[in-house]
Amino acid sequence: MTRKPSFLQLARSVRAQIGQQHRYEHSVRVARCAEALARRHGVDPGKARLAGMLHDLARLYPPERLLAESEARGFEIAAAEREHPMLLHARLGAALAQELFGVVDREVLSAIEKHTNGADEMSSLDRVVYLADSLEPNRSFAQREELWELALRDLDAATRETMRHSSLHRAQKCARAASEVR
Ligand SMILES: [Fe+2]
Ligand SMILES: [Fe+2]
Repeated sequence: MTRKPSFLQLARSVRAQIGQQHRYEHSVRVARCAEALARRHGVDPGKARLAGMLHDLARLYPPERLLAESEARGFEIAAAEREHPMLLHARLGAALAQELFGVVDREVLSAIEKHTNGADEMSSLDRVVYLADSLEPNRSFAQREELWELALRDLDAATRETMRHSSLHRAQKCARAASEVR
């Protein structure tokens, strides 16, 4: 029987897999934040930490690789994902967590899959990981602290507000890009 790896062993493998210190450190912060939120809200802290640690395994893949590996696994790829393959990194990350790290827990895989955009239906674990990724201390937008405080008190309200904030932010980015083109 193989023993479950310690957190340190897991962290080392994640670092090797991601291959970049900056993204690795982000993953560690997300794991810590997810664990803290989980403890606050009666969610399994071990699952939260594991999902946080593994959520960005495919984040640094170039667009061609994201597309090729997603196609190889038979994912249905939406037009928006073809245009912005980065959107695929969450789903592909969940596949890699399964293939490379032997994760079979559906709840953990779901939290990885939904970490970027959230979803209409989200479990408490999904919310914890989504919020940890959006609100970890190195994120530098003005409302971060306020939203983190809210996340400690109320997972649902914080998820709603954070999603609202990030879609607003995306819309502003698109508007800026459009005005630069003009
Ligand atoms: Fe991500
Ligand atoms: Fe992330």
